[in-house]
Formats: sequence, C-alpha cells, structure tokens
Amino acid sequence: MKKLISLAVLGLVLTSLLLTACSSSSGTASAKITVATDATWRPFEYKDDKTQQIIGFEIDLIKAIAAKENLNIEIKNVPWDPLLAGMAQGTYDCAISSITITADRKKEMDFTDSYWTAGQQVVVQKANTSITGNKTLSGNIGVQLGTTGDLEVQKVKGAVSKPYDTIDLAFLDLMNGQISAVVCDNPVSMFYVNQYPDKLKAVGSAFTSEGYGIAVAKGKTDLLKNLNNGIKACKDDGTMDKLAVQWKVK
Ligand code: ARG
Repeated sequence: MKKLISLAVLGLVLTSLLLTACSSSSGTASAKITVATDATWRPFEYKDDKTQQIIGFEIDLIKAIAAKENLNIEIKNVPWDPLLAGMAQGTYDCAISSITITADRKKEMDFTDSYWTAGQQVVVQKANTSITGNKTLSGNIGVQLGTTGDLEVQKVKGAVSKPYDTIDLAFLDLMNGQISAVVCDNPVSMFYVNQYPDKLKAVGSAFTSEGYGIAVAKGKTDLLKNLNNGIKACKDDGTMDKLAVQWKVK
C-alpha cells in the first residue's frame, strides 16, 4: 500500500514537472513584447484621424504574426530617429516600421527575413518639368531624417537633402513650393500623390530595391525565430497579400 501511495505521489510530481516545463517552453505567450513603430508613415503605420488608434498594413501584419505565434505584443509609437537608436540599445524588443535591412543597421540590430520590397520614388509638384527622376534631382529635396531616402539623395550631385522629422511635413513643404521634390519609399510616395493628384506627381520609377525586415534587439533569438515563422505563415496562407491589397501598398 505504502509503495502504491509513493508511486502515485511520484506520478503527480512528474506530471507537474512536465507541465511546468511545457508552459515555460511556450512562455513567450505571456511575456509582453514591445513593438516600436513610427506611426507617421501612411499607409504602413499611422494614427487614424478620428480614433487616434495606430493602424496600417504593418500594424495588421504584426498582429497577424503575433496571433500565429502566440505572442503578446504591445505597440509603442516612437519617432523614427529614437526608434533606430532605441533598437540599437535594446530599449524595445522589436520594431516594425518599413525598416530597410542594411549592412550598417545589421551591426546594431538583428533583422527578420524580408517581408516586403520597396524602392525610392521621386515626387514633384505637378507643374515641374525639370526634375524627371532621381538623376535630375536638384535643389532642396525633402526626406525623412536618417532614412534610406535621405542617404540616396545625399549621393546625387546638385541635390541637397533637407531632412524632416516626419515625411508629412516634407510633402506639405513640397506643395507650398518650399522644396523642389520629396524622395521616400514608393508606397508612401504614391499615397501622397493619390491623395493630392492636382498638386503632386511621381516622376521616374522607383530607383532602389529595398527589403523591409522587422528589427529585433540583438540577442533575442527566440523572438527572431517566432517572427520569422510568423512571416512565413502569413506569406504562405495569403494573409500578406490580402493585407497588401487592403492597405494599397502594392
Ligand atoms: N525604408 C526607409 C528606411 O528604412 C524608411 C522607413 C521609414 N519608416 C517610418 N515608419 N517612418 O530608412
């Protein structure tokens, strides 16, 4: 009888050990993961004018990835410049913000596989006939500070990069005639062109090819794995395409 009881006790102990082991291996489900985003970038991430909620293609995408991988995420609105600095310092677990995967950035943060491809697109006032694409850029060119657009404009002789904290301010200055063009990622450029078709036009075609990745703080290898699995799942089951159509990023 004694033997039986001790066997039963042993069984209980083993089961509870097993349960704890299981729950800790999927422990990512309970720990909150902070996701930084610069919500000034339509249609990828921005604040809804009415509700002030952060919405957009990448917001829906990260939510879909989180649901697939059972991750508990909290989205934080962080301006672009501190977002990159924060990722380098490990202030946030990860960031989704149309971040182009570059060799320089890879030194400071890790990246998931690329989930989207975009390119730099020049936008000018509708009446402009002298700027016909990236090769003929001249004068002050509006960009978002520290973006790949900023770097591209700096490469063009005769063009002066004029950095703004947010791209909406650059488009405003372009429409007011304060600058001669804006250079930014093509879905964002096209959003503004479609919004103000009487004032703006896109010239030339997208002149870079850039892969977007979710930036992950160095050392967070489990999170990186989860995000990559989630991205793959969203590509495989059509979620990515469905969201792209819905948010008009294609
Ligand atoms: N793709 C560009 C880059 O990585 C611009 C991204 C800006 N994103 C944003 N949410 N403001 O530099």
